[in-house]
Amino acid sequence: MAKHDLDPNYLDPNYEPVVNHSSNTPFHQVLSARMQRRTVMKGSVGAALASVMGLGLAGCGSDDDDDNGTSTGGSSANTELGFKAVAVSTDNEVVVPGGYSSVAFLPWGTPITGSYPEYKADGTNTGADQEQQMGMHHDGVHFFPIDQKAGGNSSTEGLLVMNHEYINQSALHANGPTNAGDNGGVRPADEVRKEIAAHGVSVVHIKRDTNGTWDIVFGSPFNRRITGNTEMDIRGPVRGYSKLVTTYSPDATETRGTLNNCAMGPTPWGTYLAAEENWHGYFANSDATQPREQTRHGVGSSSRYDWELADSAADQYVRFNVSTTGAAATDDYRNEANTYGFMVEIDPFTPESKPQKRTALGRFGHEGVIFAPAKEGEPVVCYSGDDSRFEYIYKFVSSQPYYAATAGGYLLDEGTLYVARFNEDGSGDWLALDLDDADFASKVAAAEGGMVGDIQFDGFENQADVLLNTRLAADIAGATTMDRPEWGAVDPNSGEVYFTLTNNSNRGQPGFDDVNAANPNSPNATGHIIRWTEEGNDHTATSFDWDIFVFAGEQGTETVVDGEAVVSLNDDNIFNSPDGLWFDYNGRLWIQTDGSDADPYFNNMMLAANPETREIKRFFVGPQGCEVTGVVSTPDVKTMFVNIQHPDGNWPNAAESRPRDATVIVTKDDGGVIGA
Ligand code: FEO
Ligand code: CA
Ligand code: CA
Ligand code: CA
Repeated sequence: MAKHDLDPNYLDPNYEPVVNHSSNTPFHQVLSARMQRRTVMKGSVGAALASVMGLGLAGCGSDDDDDNGTSTGGSSANTELGFKAVAVSTDNEVVVPGGYSSVAFLPWGTPITGSYPEYKADGTNTGADQEQQMGMHHDGVHFFPIDQKAGGNSSTEGLLVMNHEYINQSALHANGPTNAGDNGGVRPADEVRKEIAAHGVSVVHIKRDTNGTWDIVFGSPFNRRITGNTEMDIRGPVRGYSKLVTTYSPDATETRGTLNNCAMGPTPWGTYLAAEENWHGYFANSDATQPREQTRHGVGSSSRYDWELADSAADQYVRFNVSTTGAAATDDYRNEANTYGFMVEIDPFTPESKPQKRTALGRFGHEGVIFAPAKEGEPVVCYSGDDSRFEYIYKFVSSQPYYAATAGGYLLDEGTLYVARFNEDGSGDWLALDLDDADFASKVAAAEGGMVGDIQFDGFENQADVLLNTRLAADIAGATTMDRPEWGAVDPNSGEVYFTLTNNSNRGQPGFDDVNAANPNSPNATGHIIRWTEEGNDHTATSFDWDIFVFAGEQGTETVVDGEAVVSLNDDNIFNSPDGLWFDYNGRLWIQTDGSDADPYFNNMMLAANPETREIKRFFVGPQGCEVTGVVSTPDVKTMFVNIQHPDGNWPNAAESRPRDATVIVTKDDGGVIGA
């Protein structure tokens, strides 16, 4: 049995530590704010009716266009859902609508680079083999057309880049993992090497043949594995900061590896940002007290996989012990965890490039990142959620303007990081986390010397310290605690920004934050999707108007605006725990789930939504035990790639005994546009 199977925290696939006790913006303090429209969730017959409130659209965006007839009408036609919804399913296979086909692609262990070591179904591949094969637990994914750098948009050849969030230790090894507790306190080093290599990111050059079959371009120089041990640079304001000094990098400019990469975001200049989400679980700290950089994230006294106990005692494994063992920071790895929690930029078109940790985007449990459309001569804007209960949604606005001809990762090294406050009246504000911002500086000064949640706050040394402690800075700024922000998506037609709030079992429960207008369910068992329009539809704005797009739930769950049910879920579209979220290139919204697979929802799924009408239809159901996470298509939206993570049993190959995470390729049998 794997060590983490013994820990009830890891039995729950939705496990997220609750480490925010800041009690920001209590509901009762803002109830007096002016009320306009209300979005209400109504439960189904037999369910407890939690009458809850949120706010409607504040009168801008597509609603107005419809009312005054100025809509071009073009986007409406593009976002209609032309398929017949599929039913919920308990089958151990992928279900897609009639007229569509699906096939599994690039399962865990598929050789993609180096000597292309063959996958061994008995689990006997070595750590070195795994470094040349697809990792486990496929998650966020993007398709880069092979001719993108030349301005092209190939839909038949490209680089498929995806994250491998974590691992199934039992399936990874021939006979499961060797536990340190049963093995003299150490783990075999090659097991550790294999586990680290099954994490990270894969870059795979793929091409469609004339029969429509996709395959790897073997021997392509673009094929690459990035793992939990790949050398990386620290960039942005935190680079060189004393709190990142380690034996490996005495000048605090480098680290090794990226871990727990959940969602991602393609940049406007053709690179890939991988998010570091639940990285805290990989480190162990047995010191009597921990620094705030660890306590605010939930680093514990033992690590999830005990990598620091590898029997070789090699430096790349010892570093996961972040206890104080040496005389100074240059003598140990007390600061190693401070080199995690960032967005990591990977250039898939430059195979020899070193990944770059972009610290200006903040350090937290990054679920992913989504860029607003880049505009020539204007700042770059991107959004990122922190997926833990009662954490926040952030926005980064670059200092330097975007010019397509010269754009690059440097744009992410200088700018302002904001955190969202969702006001009760349907407005919202972006609060700068910047010591040069007078409002933030005064809040920091007022908080100094007191408690912020559980943390005795002694101030920030500098802006690097603010970014290293982004969650603490957001607590002080007075951000709105959210119900586990997962993926974001920007509507290519309206510019509206959508985020999934997957669920929050503790919302409104004794000892935890009460409900607020943007997170109005107590507890929030099934999640919802929020959206907003930036003031003036300018993504650099510091205020916005928000509403709730849909409440997830069982049949009869209503999303009510001004007394009218704008959505009433039925057999065709019940879902729970929305997680993955993506607008395709025509403007259909794709919603993926990572929730309870009990009756009435059964296996996790993907639905399509029309953002204008809020029509929602179930398009895809995954096999047993999986979550459906990660979706992208070719530019023509005729080939869709959907990732299946942590399936049970023997999916996708019934002849094998081990489950294998895989990408599913979906096509329409008539060669048409997916979803149309
Ligand atoms: Fe890795 Fe928040 O899902
Ligand atoms: Ca998950
Ligand atoms: Ca997720
Ligand atoms: Ca999730």
